[in-house]
Amino acid sequence: MCGIFGYVTVRDECARIVVDSLRKLEYRGYDSWGVGIGLNGHIRVVKRAGRIPPISPDLPASSIAFGHTRWATHGGVTDANAHPHLDCTGRLAVIHNGIIENFRKLRAELESNGHRFASDTDSEVFAHLVEQVLHAGDDADPDAVVEAVRSAFARVEGLNAFILLHHCTQQLIAVKSISPLVIGAGKGGTYVASDAVALVGLADRVHYLGDDEVAAIRADGLHLYDRADGSERVPRWERLTLQPTDTSLEGFPHYLIKEIHEQPRVLERILREHPPRARELANLITRSYGTFLVGCGTAGYAALAGSYLFSRIARRHVNSVVASEFKYQEHFLTDRSLVIALSQSGETVDVIEAALAAKRRGARVAALVNVTGSTLDRLADFTIPLLAGPELSVLSTKAYTAKLALLLLTAHVINGSEHVGLDLLWRAIDGMVRALTPDSQDRVKAIADRIADHQHCFVIGRGLSYPTALEAALKIKEVSYLHAEGFAGGELKHGVIALVEPGVPCIVFSPLDETRADILSGAMELRSRGGWIIGVSPEHEAVFDAHLPVAEAGDASPLVNVVPAQLLGYYLAVRKGLDPDKPRNLAKSVTVK
Ligand code: AGP
Repeated sequence: MCGIFGYVTVRDECARIVVDSLRKLEYRGYDSWGVGIGLNGHIRVVKRAGRIPPISPDLPASSIAFGHTRWATHGGVTDANAHPHLDCTGRLAVIHNGIIENFRKLRAELESNGHRFASDTDSEVFAHLVEQVLHAGDDADPDAVVEAVRSAFARVEGLNAFILLHHCTQQLIAVKSISPLVIGAGKGGTYVASDAVALVGLADRVHYLGDDEVAAIRADGLHLYDRADGSERVPRWERLTLQPTDTSLEGFPHYLIKEIHEQPRVLERILREHPPRARELANLITRSYGTFLVGCGTAGYAALAGSYLFSRIARRHVNSVVASEFKYQEHFLTDRSLVIALSQSGETVDVIEAALAAKRRGARVAALVNVTGSTLDRLADFTIPLLAGPELSVLSTKAYTAKLALLLLTAHVINGSEHVGLDLLWRAIDGMVRALTPDSQDRVKAIADRIADHQHCFVIGRGLSYPTALEAALKIKEVSYLHAEGFAGGELKHGVIALVEPGVPCIVFSPLDETRADILSGAMELRSRGGWIIGVSPEHEAVFDAHLPVAEAGDASPLVNVVPAQLLGYYLAVRKGLDPDKPRNLAKSVTVK
C-alpha cells in the first residue's frame, strides 16, 4: 500500500506540511516518495527513490500540494516510477494507492492516441486518462475537471484511490474504490490522506470518503459529489479523536518498542470497555451455523489461536482460515455462516476480499479491527474496535494481543464463565508487565546478541503455543531478516528436524499445560542434534540452554509468551542496525494482492 497526503490552504506553507505529514504515513510504504506543488502556471514535482530525507528538501511556497510514499507494485523502485505522475501537458498530476487491474489495455489505447509515458507504473495511466477526457476550455472550469475525473475513474478496474492535482483550477480531486481516503478540515485548511493518523494536529474533523463519492478540495473547503451522477452531497463530518500522544514516540527510540510496552495498558482498556461487545460477538457466534476466523500474517495467527480458544474454552468448533486462501474454500458458506475478519489496519485486501466473498453468499461479517473508518470497519455488519491506539510500526504487536484478549473473553462468555475470562486477562496483564521488566529484557538482549549472526532459527509450540510459535517466528524474521520458522512441535520428526545443525537456535514454548511433556520431548530431539534450546517457560528445565522465564497464565499464555518473542525481534533488529519500524520490502498493510 502507499501513503497519500494532500493539502489546500489559503496560506503558502503547503509543501512543508505535506512532507512532514508524509513521514507519518511512511509506515504504509517507503520505497520512494514525492511531492507535487501547484505553482503559478505549472506543477513542480520533486520525487526520489528511497526514504524521505531526514532534512526536508527546500520546496517553493504554495497553497496547494500533495505527496506520496510508495510501496512498489508495478514498475521498479526508481525516481521515474515514484509518484506524482504528470499528464503530457503538465497541467495535472496524480498520486495513487492500489492497482489498476486493466492498466495495460488502457495504456495501449492512450499510447495509440499519442500519449507519452514517463514511467513503468500503472498509476500514470490515470493522469493521461483524465487528460484524454479534458477539453480545452475545461481548465478554467473546476466542475468540468471533476466531471473528467469521474469519467476517467469509471474506466478503471481494481481497488484504487487517486488524488489529482489540477493547478489551473487550484484543486485536489479525490476518488476511491475500497482503498481508503479520509478528508480532514481544520483552521489551516482542508486535507486528504490515506489514514487519519496523518491528520493529527492538523484537522479537528474528518469525513471518510465513500466509494460512491468524489471530493474536490479547494481554497474554500470540501466540495462533495455523487460519483455516479455528479450531484452535490453533504459531508458527514465527525470529530477526529486521535491525539498527538497517539502518534508520538513518547520517549521511546522506535514505535515497535513503544507499542510492545503499551500492551498491558491496551488490555486494561479492553477489560474496562469491551465485555458488552464480547457478549454481542458471542451471541453472533452461538446463533451462527459455521463460524470462520480469517486474517493475514499476524492476524491470521490470532485467528488460529482463536480456533484453539473456542475449542478448549467454549467447546465450539470455529474454523480459522488464512484470508488469502478463504476464497478457495468459501463454497460451504451459507446465509447462516458468520465470518469474523481480523485486521489491524482494516485495509488488507485479502481480508477485504474474504469479507466481500462472505457477503456475496449471504453470510454475516463481524470485524475485529484497529482503525476506525477503515474499509473493513465500514464493510462489516458488526465491528469490535481493538482500542489498541495507532499501531505505527510495520510489525503488529499490541493489535495481536488485543485480538487474542477479545477472542478469549468471547469464548468464556459463550461458556458462561465471563468472570474467569476477565480474571485470566488480568493475570495476562501481570504476566506482560513482568515480561517487560529491565531484568526480563536484559535476558532477551543477551539471547539476541548470542543468535544475531545465525542464519536460521526454529520455533516450536504445541496446542495454544503453536500459533504463538508461528507469530514468534514472523516477528523475528520480518524485522531482523534472520530466517525463523515456526512449527507445530509434533511436526519436527516429519522432516523439519533434517534442518537442525549444531548450534542452531531453537525457541521452545513450554507453558505448564497439557503440551509440556511432549514439547519438552521435542526440545530433547532438537538438542540431541545440536540445537541450542531457548525455553520460554514459567519453570527452567535441564534441556534449556537459555531460559526466558514467563508467568504462568493458563489459556492466556499466548498473550504473555509472545512478549519475549516481540522483544527478541526488536533487539535483533537494533543489534543488526536495522530499522525496527520499517523493515525492507514491507508495508503496514498490504492493500494489493
Ligand atoms: C505483522 O507483524 C505483519 N506486518 C503482517 O503480517 C500483518 O499482520 C498482516 O499484513 C496483516 O495486517 P492487518 O492486521 O492490518 O490486516
